[in-house]
Formats: sequence, structure tokens, C-alpha cells
Amino acid sequence: MPEEGVKVAVRVRPFNQREKDRKAHLMIKMSGQMTSISNPENPNEEPKKFSFDYSYWSHDGMVESADGVFEATPGSNYASQRKVFEDLGQGVLDNAFEGYNCSLFAYGQTGSGKSYSMVGYGANRGIVPITCDELFKTMATNTDTNKRFEVTFSMLEIYNEQVRDLLSRENPKGGLQVRQNPKLGLFYVEGLKKVPVGSYVEIEKRMDQGTANRTVASTNMNATSSRAHTVVSITFDQIIKSETGSETKKSSVMNLVDLAGSERADSTGATGDRLKEGANINKSLSALGNVISALADLSTGSKKKIVVPYRDSVLTKLLQNALGGNSKTIMIAALSPADINYDETLSTLRYADRAKKIKNKAVINENPMDKLIRELKEENDRLKKAMESGGMIEGSAGMSPEEIERMKKEMEEEIRAQLMANQAMLSENDSKEDWDAKLRAAQSETDELKGGGSQSTRRSKEPYLINLNEDPMLSGVICHFLDTEKTTVGRKDAQPIPNVCLSGLSIQKLHAIITNKNGKIEISPAPGSASKTKVNGLPLSDKKELSHKDRILFGSNHMYVMMIPKHTDTADNTLPNVIDWDFAQKEIAEIKGFATHSLGLTKDQLIAQEQVLEMLPMVSEVNAVSEELDKRKSFEVVLISAAAQEGVDVSSNNGTRYDEGSSVRVMVKMTNLLNGNTWLWQRGKFLNRRYLIQDLYQRFLDGDDLSKVSKEEDPFWEPPEEVLIGTANAFLQSLSFALDFDDQLIITDYKGQEEGTLDVRVAPCDAKGKPADDESFVEDPSELLNKPFYFKVFVKKAEINKSRFSRGIRVQFSLPFPNKKTELAQTQIIKNTLSPDFDFSKVITINKVHSDHLKFLENGCLTFYVFGMQEDTRPEPNLSKLTTKELRQRNNMKENADTTVRRKTLFGNDIASDQSHLKAEVVLLQRKHDRLVQKERRIQEICKEWEKKQEGEREFEPFYRAVSAAAFSTGTRLKTRVQMLNQMLRLQRAVKMDDSSVSPQLNPPVLPPILRTSAAPGSISRQKTMDPSIVLQGQKFVRSLKTGSDLTNNKPTGGGQQRPTSAGGNTSNGSKACVIQ
Ligand SMILES: Nc1ncnc2c1ncn2[C@@H]1O[C@H](COP(=O)(O)OP(=O)(O)OP(=O)(O)O)[C@@H](O)[C@H]1O
Ligand SMILES: [Mg+2]
Repeated sequence: MPEEGVKVAVRVRPFNQREKDRKAHLMIKMSGQMTSISNPENPNEEPKKFSFDYSYWSHDGMVESADGVFEATPGSNYASQRKVFEDLGQGVLDNAFEGYNCSLFAYGQTGSGKSYSMVGYGANRGIVPITCDELFKTMATNTDTNKRFEVTFSMLEIYNEQVRDLLSRENPKGGLQVRQNPKLGLFYVEGLKKVPVGSYVEIEKRMDQGTANRTVASTNMNATSSRAHTVVSITFDQIIKSETGSETKKSSVMNLVDLAGSERADSTGATGDRLKEGANINKSLSALGNVISALADLSTGSKKKIVVPYRDSVLTKLLQNALGGNSKTIMIAALSPADINYDETLSTLRYADRAKKIKNKAVINENPMDKLIRELKEENDRLKKAMESGGMIEGSAGMSPEEIERMKKEMEEEIRAQLMANQAMLSENDSKEDWDAKLRAAQSETDELKGGGSQSTRRSKEPYLINLNEDPMLSGVICHFLDTEKTTVGRKDAQPIPNVCLSGLSIQKLHAIITNKNGKIEISPAPGSASKTKVNGLPLSDKKELSHKDRILFGSNHMYVMMIPKHTDTADNTLPNVIDWDFAQKEIAEIKGFATHSLGLTKDQLIAQEQVLEMLPMVSEVNAVSEELDKRKSFEVVLISAAAQEGVDVSSNNGTRYDEGSSVRVMVKMTNLLNGNTWLWQRGKFLNRRYLIQDLYQRFLDGDDLSKVSKEEDPFWEPPEEVLIGTANAFLQSLSFALDFDDQLIITDYKGQEEGTLDVRVAPCDAKGKPADDESFVEDPSELLNKPFYFKVFVKKAEINKSRFSRGIRVQFSLPFPNKKTELAQTQIIKNTLSPDFDFSKVITINKVHSDHLKFLENGCLTFYVFGMQEDTRPEPNLSKLTTKELRQRNNMKENADTTVRRKTLFGNDIASDQSHLKAEVVLLQRKHDRLVQKERRIQEICKEWEKKQEGEREFEPFYRAVSAAAFSTGTRLKTRVQMLNQMLRLQRAVKMDDSSVSPQLNPPVLPPILRTSAAPGSISRQKTMDPSIVLQGQKFVRSLKTGSDLTNNKPTGGGQQRPTSAGGNTSNGSKACVIQ
């Protein structure tokens, strides 16, 4: 039996609107079978190259034909849907006709184009529909009367390790069972509907039915689209009658799998969640990764004895044959082209690279029908006998009667399932007449399914609501026509039953009423359900007229767009042509105060922005569950700035920094509405909890008694932990001049709100912590280079604003010096006060200062994290009486007051931080100024003394020595000043040599008068003291010296000003000019 490798194709999609808006960079290149990816963070790095069976370039080079199909422009290498079908789909088809099992699965992150390749959108049909269409077209060319075909179609989804039949409205609690056929060893889904189909149109309708069921399930919160794996299976049987009248059956099973977004497999964010073990979110996808790795190892011979872990998940059980058995298998890896998806795309390429190593042994499935039937019947007889004899269980020594009974039950259950499976297989081998009867029954059911052409004519005339979903595949699937004067929206348990029945969170029995009076459409909330509906992002409190393209959100999940074909002119003309999920979510996010513009944002900020848009609807869903289950918890999306992150992570991840380097982090804050305790969850942890919360809610809907859920199992419960009250930043610029810094810092929380103050001091010191003297001041930070440097950080005291933090407060900080492991310093916890006195200090040692240290001192800051202890305190009695909903409303009222603050602090607009930076700079300038003033005073004294002397006593040399000694004295060296002076003197000389070149308008260089000693004493006019002028040049400053009172008049004369004639030369009166080298 020949082995054949899994065929692997990669395909890169065009930029989506978001990527275009933010001017994303393309990081994928393709040439022939090669695909390369370049690292946007490191453009000089050699791009990583991969080779696949096919590398499909679908990024650009296409035009849209009149019927909406994207085709390659002449000369471009664009791979259209047809091209992909011809390479991959045709092969599947050919193999199916030969009797091979085939599998095709699409892998890639959310939004990378898996569904586009598999199913397609609109006129751009994907591999699945084209293959099905071609299947029937090829069947139609058959002229052999001894050959007949039977095609069945099934569609399922796997979410949360549960299998849902997408062709069936009712699915059992917990989903359909996956069982193993002991004879064949293969896994199958018990009771899955396999619908006979007689044409491509029937398949299309069934796919639409499946997609509609997925959409309903996803909006009812039982599942979320991109986390579910969708498996379409088509069995294709060819029954060939021989001349003797015996029949042979050639069968092929085609499994077409659209996998869940691969980034969901990354569960690192959930690290540290005490409930991690319970979650199955990614089980199937990570198990698939493990299976592929194991199979690749087996095929390459790198590891001989490996158990391939098919049994680890539902998906791998069902794909066992496709991956490591009797199947010809193809994988399409969908790639996102944009730079911000580099990590995900690289990981997809590596995944695909591993998959191509897998080898399969496909065989033609061809068997005589009567043999098949006979064997199945014999097997059935055997099973029936086993059942009658009590399941063949004797029980072994040491087993209790209860255990034996339980085993018997399990065995009986197995046998019964086996019998049913055999029966189903027998019925798959029935006669032509039986098949035809089943097909007719299925067809009449298909005919009743909605959809098709009739709807599109109605949509061009009547007003309707059309759904939006996070997954574009599920958008535009559910349509409600508003063709009557009054349309009620609500739950199906309402009396009378509403016209539009919705279920799920926050949907009231009677939720909203939509009226249509002569084309004027108005919506009003049903009594008591105000604010449970949003129109264009705003809560609906009263009757409102609807316009074309208005966005309506019922409850927390049901998003619709109002379409009024006759009123297209009423639509706001600033709206985009097509309203999609992203647009509607952005609108809500903006109203909540989150910025959604993308220009000018860093990669981290863009990722954060996408996560905000992803998480906002999830958070409102979790809030709705909290209300419905009365959990007294409220959730909120928060953005944590770079400064605040470290503290958060240190506290929640035992000192390890997570996702180092990210400047903005999206987190979810959970608040206990009764006692104000809060918790901050990383995205991963929140996704994990949300998933468990969905599960809990589903159990509630299924009628389970949730009071039995212990608090440890409850995803809403969390033991109290310390919480980050806020951060305070001290900028270290002073240290780079070896100056100390003493200040009261403002503690701000993640929203930029003031939470209190922290008194700190940072001062240079010696190795033992003894304060450095004044003389340690350096004029130029580079003077610190290559020497040891010590400084002491004092955390003195704090004043905290919120009384709930009085249980205990501590401060910690660490210095993120480059190339050095972060050293953490922390104060003790001070209890029972809001004015803790920490009296803490720590000496920080830099053994040898190098330029990175300097850079950090000059520009960096020391962040102090102020933590508050929390405990489970008794709630106020009047709060305990309120429901979660009432408590949340009360909280929201408080919250609304500070929305404006939040707006300002989004994405790096860290006002508090800016303020402290400026403040630090001013303090530093002040310190430098004071020192220079001191210095000048000394120099002026020297000058005065010199002036008092008689002309004959005035000796320049001692005077000059005294001045330079003062200027060069340790700690207050005026090197830069002196260098500047030298430069000016040189300039002056040049000017003197050619006075005519000086334009009268030219501002003369301001020479420090003290050094203009050329004029005769008599000519010196008195001048008032000038204020020091401080000029900021970027981060540095240049200060012109304060002028002395008894010094030279500085007025320009003629075209220039009084100045030394030449270096070392004499002025007109013969005095020496001062030149300092
Ligand atoms: N080759 C392509 N050409 C044009 N548009 C594409 C292509 N591939 C994907 N798209 C567009 O990108 C968007 C996302 O694609 P798609 O829905 O296929 O992603 P997905 O991988 O299935 O995501 P999910 O994991 O959420 O299901 C869709 O709007 C789709 O139309
Ligand atoms: Mg998809």
C-alpha cells in the first residue's frame, strides 16, 4: 500500500478594511511553491522561507467581474477560488470517484480566510460548494445504467468538546455522543443526521440550514462561531451491478473541516487561573496539534514508538482516519498578510510545515454489497445475544455488586449503541427503492427550508432586519421581514408568542415593539425593558424612528441592521456602504469611551484596540449572565498602561512578567458589587472564565441546580487578593546629574484617576548608602560613565484616598535596568491606616555605568506600585438587599461621572505621567540653576574685588586664575559654558576680521559680560541684574549666565558689539582679552 504525504497549501488573503485603514505592512512573499515571511520588528533579519505543495497568492492582483467574482488581472499571480478548486478540489473529486476517503481541512487564525477558502462568500464560492457542484455534474455525465450513486450530507460543529448536529434543531443536552466502532476501530457520531441529497441545490440549502442553525446557536450564547470547528461530511457511494446481478459498493467519505481560529489554542494567558483545568476551549485544537506532531515524528522516523493521541479530543477522534489512516488529506493554511499578525502567521506556517511530513495510506473502499450486509447482520446477531446474556459481565474478584452493576450498565449501553450503528450502516446498504424513498422524504424536507430566490425579491421591496455576527460567515444569515403593522420581539415563552423570537441573555419576554405605518418604522422598548436595546450604540429609552442602515442590538448578543429598501435616502451618508459587525462594535466602543481610530498607534496599541473590540461584547455578555444568575459581580474592560503592567503581573503571576514589552494591555476588571473588592484578569484568564461562565449559564438553562456549585468551582468566585491601587512615577533625570530628588508623587490608577500621594526621595549615595555631598554633581551625565554609581530610593509615606484600602497597603518597585534581572524592592504591609508610614529605603548599585544605564537615568522613570489588601468583608446590609442588576446600575451611575477621565487616558495619553515628568525636569533645572547662581556669585565677588583695586594693582593673571578656579571647581564645573565661550570668541574674531559681513539685524551673540573685560573701567556703565533665562532645548537646557551688576554694557555698537579683538591680543585701550582654552 503506497504511502502518500498530506498535501499542504498556504493561501494569503487581501488586507481587510481595518488593515488598510491603519496602513498595515505586508510581510508575506510567495514565489512558486515558496512562501517567505519577514519579521516586521526586525527588517534586517533574513525572511523565513517555507516550501509547500501550493503557495497561493490571493493578496492582490485581482479584479471583480460583473457578477462579483474575483479574478486574476492579466499577468498577476493571483489565485482565484477556481484555481484553488482546480488544484485541490478536483483532486478530492477524482479520489472520491476512485473510492478513496478524502479530507480537507483549513487551519489559521481567526479572520485569516479559512471559511473563504472552504465555503466562500457570495459569488466567490469556495472548495466545498464547487466540489459538491462538480460532483453532481460529473454524476450527470454517467451513462452506465448499471451504476447508481448515493450521496449523503451531514454537518456538525464541535464546541466545548460537544458535538452539535447542525442539520437538527434539537440537540441533546451535552451534545451528541462520539463512539468507537470496535470492529473498524473508527470513531463516529451517534445519531448524527445524514441527509440523502440528489442535487447540488439540495446541498446548498442544507449548508444554509446548517449555517443558520450555527448562527442561532452562536447568538443564543451556546457557542461562539470562531471557536467552533465545523465539519461537513459527504458520503459518496457508487453502486455497481455486475452481469451476475451482484452489487459492489465503492464508497468515499469526504470530510471538509473548517477549524476554529488557531490563536485560540494559545492558552498561555490563562496561566495562573485556578480554574484552568476545567476549561476545554482549546482542547480539540491543541490535541490536533499534538496529533500532527506525533504523526510527523512517526513519518520522519525521528521517533519510533509513539502513541498518537487521537483520543484526547473529539475533533482528533473524528479526524483519526483523515490524519493517520485511510484518507487522502489536504490542509489549507490560511495566512493573514499584515505585520501585526506576524507571530500568529509564523506559527501557522510552522504548523503547516509539520503537517506536510505526515504520510497516509489510503485504500479504495470497494466491497461486495451482499458481503457487507451479511457481515453486519452476523455482527448484529452476536451483539443481540450478548445483550440477552447480560452484557457478558461476570465481574472480577474484589468488585462490589454496585461496581458490577455499573459495569454491566456501561457495557449494555455500548452494545446498544453498536447495534444502532450497525443498523444505520445496514440501512445505508439498502436497495435502490429504499434509497429513492429516503431521498424523496429528505427532498420534501429540503423544499420546506427557507431561503433561496424568493427572499431576495422580498428584500428588494420590504423593510427587514438582517443579523450581524462576529464571524462574517454567520452575518446576513437571519432575516426578519417587518411586513406587518406591528412586529413584536421577545422570548418564545411570552404570551402571545412574539413575531420575532430571540433567546439568550438579557432578552425579555416582551422585549421591543417595531411598528411599520405606511413605511414609517419606529421601535420602542417594551415596558420594563428599556436600555436592553441599543440603537446605533445608544440605549433605547423611548420610541424612535428607524432609518435605513440603523444598527439595533437586542439584549447582549442579537445585533441587526435595519434595511429599508424604499428609504435608502434616509440613511446617514457618512455611513459605509456595507455595515458590518466591526462597524457596529466600534460604535458601541466609542460610546463607552474607547478610542477606535487606528492611525498613529503602535503595534501594541493596535493589538490592544482589536482586543478591546473583541472583548467588549464578551464583557457585556458576562455582565448579563451575572445579572441573570444574580452573582453580584460586575465586569469591565480596562486598558493598563505600560507603567501599570508590571505591578499587575508581578502580583498575579508570581513575579514573572508576562508578554514583556507590550505597552498597553487589555484586561478585565471584576468588581464585587457588595464590598468593592476588585480583581484584574488578563485576557487569557477572562476568555477562560467567560467560557466557564457560558457553561454555567447553559447548565442553568438546562435546569441544573446551580446552588450545588461550590464557590471553588464557580467561575464568578475568586479569593480576595491584593489589588493594585495605582502607580506613581519618579523620573530619574536628576540622578543622571548626580542630583537628588525629593517629591510627593501622585498615585494614579489605570484610568488616570488620582488615588493618593506617595512621598519619595531618590538620592545619590556611596556604596554604604551614605548621602553623597554636593560636590558629586556632574554637569554632563557622561561623566558618570564607566564608574560605579549608587543611589538610594526612599519610600517615605503615602496618603490613600479610598477607605476600603485601609486594610493594608504596601509599595513595591523594581528597576528595569537594561540587561539586568529586575530586582524587586518592597515595603512592609502597613495595616489599618490610609496614611501609611513606610520609612523604607534601598540602595541601588550600578557597578559600572554604561550608556544604557545613562539612557535609562536620563529618560526613564522609577515606577512605584501601590497595592491594597482586600478581604471578604460583610457587605453593607442595605446593599445585600439589592439585586446584581440594581447594584450594577448604582455602580454605573458612579462610573459615568468619570468617563471623561477615561477618554483622556486611552492609548498612551498618560497625563499624570507627563506631569510628573515635567515636574522632575523643572526640579532638576532649579537645582542646576541654584548651583550656577552660587558659582556666579563667587565669580562676581572676584570681579568686585578686582574692580575695587587700583588700576596699578590690577593684575590679570591672578584674576584669571581665580575666575577659572571658581569655574572649574569640582562639582560645579562650567565646562560647557567655557566651551561655548571659546566658540563665541572664535566667532568674534572672525567677525572682527571682516566687520562688514555682520548684518545690523543679526542678533549679536550674547557674551557673558564677566568675560568681556576689554573695556577701560571708566567706560563701564552700570547695568541692572538680568533674570536668568532658561532655555529648554529638548531634554537638555542651556542657561545664559546671570549678568553681574558692575559689568560691561552689552549694547552693540555699530554693526557689532564690544568684543575682544583677537585671541590673546589687545583691545583699543590695551587691556588683555580673556581667552579661556
Ligand atoms: N482570498 C480572499 N480574498 C478576498 N477576501 C478574503 C479572502 N480570504 C478571506 N477574505 C475575507 O476576509 C474575511 C475573513 O475571512 P474568513 O471568514 O474566511 O476567516 P476565517 O479564517 O474563517 O475566520 P474565523 O476563524 O473567524 O472563522 C472575510 O470577510 C473574507 O471575505
Ligand atoms: Mg470562518
